[in-house]
Amino acid sequence: MRATDIIRAKRDGLQLSREAVEFFVSGVTDGSLPDYQASALLMAIVLRGMTPEETAWLTTAMVNSGIRVDLSAIPGVKVDKHSTGGVGDKASLVLAPLAAACGVKVPMMSGRGLGHTGGTLDKLQSMAGFRVDLSLDELKAALERTGVAMLGQTAQIAPADKKLYALRDVTGTVESIPLITASIMSKKIAEGIDALVLDVKTGRGAFMKTVDDSRRLARSLVETGNRAGVRTEALITAMDAPLGRAVGNALEVVECVETLKGRGPADLEALSVVLAARMVLAAGLAGSAEEAEAQVRRALASGDGVEKWRQIVAGQGADPRVVDDYSLMPSVATRHLVRAPRSGFLSVLDAELVGRAAVALGAGRATVDDPVDPAVGAMVLAHPGDEVREGDPILELHYRREADLPPALELLGKAIEMADEPPARLPLVVEQVA
Ligand code: URA
Repeated sequence: MRATDIIRAKRDGLQLSREAVEFFVSGVTDGSLPDYQASALLMAIVLRGMTPEETAWLTTAMVNSGIRVDLSAIPGVKVDKHSTGGVGDKASLVLAPLAAACGVKVPMMSGRGLGHTGGTLDKLQSMAGFRVDLSLDELKAALERTGVAMLGQTAQIAPADKKLYALRDVTGTVESIPLITASIMSKKIAEGIDALVLDVKTGRGAFMKTVDDSRRLARSLVETGNRAGVRTEALITAMDAPLGRAVGNALEVVECVETLKGRGPADLEALSVVLAARMVLAAGLAGSAEEAEAQVRRALASGDGVEKWRQIVAGQGADPRVVDDYSLMPSVATRHLVRAPRSGFLSVLDAELVGRAAVALGAGRATVDDPVDPAVGAMVLAHPGDEVREGDPILELHYRREADLPPALELLGKAIEMADEPPARLPLVVEQVA
């Protein structure tokens, strides 16, 4: 089999054979396929797409590039949640302890922030000492002990995805439904879960900007998961503006803890509760969506959720006092307010541009290996739909270096739009795909 034939076939819009897809993935995994040929094929896939069959073969080949973890010795239904990526999207840190407090076993394997989107691992590591590099034995021990573990992709899980994702990031080939599907689902299938709840983001801050594209991605993810024996469902949720108020790693962790204490922003609490309830339902621990939601709300109100969070923090190596003493979290003293350019309704607070501004301040990274500054970011002080007067603060930037401010402010100058009427807004949960 020759790589050039495979590239040309996809370039011309033909369906690849299973063998061709496997040849591609094994060549990427063992390094025998040069990056330029892998990149050419990735671009052909972006432009020509893949059939559901090809997507399933790609996903399976990527799963088989590593191991499929066996969690069957751990009693209970293992359920994970995964978001396709957003700005201020910190719901995992709220819903994982809530779902675990309701009895769900939650082996949560997350990623780092890339591009304008934040990553759960970076947020967790803003707590000094928090270990995300758990071995598979440590994952199992944590599941036995507390019912939940939050970790990064281990070297044995879908190594082909690690290589492909790094290539896609630098070759303009991230935004592709089959490639995103295979990337996310290979990791999720390999981690040994029984069920998966997906949060497919839609809007300005999401990889998929329209509801139609998000629906197509959600269907592709759900179909691929179910084909592989992982019961999968998706909610399509709004990502036009940042979720909650905090954007930036330590700021987001504090907001999550506040939410677990019942003092969080309404949108973050609502989304976390809905997603945690879907996990409770998927685990068979409730008879209906309403019952599941009531269980999650009880875990929130009783403090069981925040207690579970304390156990996660202590169990994974950080000082549990951070849960109550936020002065132990990294922070910067320097602030800059971004103000409303005129009076009226805030109609747009563009999530992608806010995310890029946070990256410019150091909260995210340009390449996978860059360090992030856990302390910097932005607090959203006015949300789309709010009526403000000229000069009212919209964002409070937390920055470390003066030199980072001008590029961030340039982006934010374009992120804010005002109108005379309140804007039409998508509901938080747009629809469900099962
Ligand atoms: N998250 C992933 O893990 N992979 C993608 O391709 C996009 C988002």
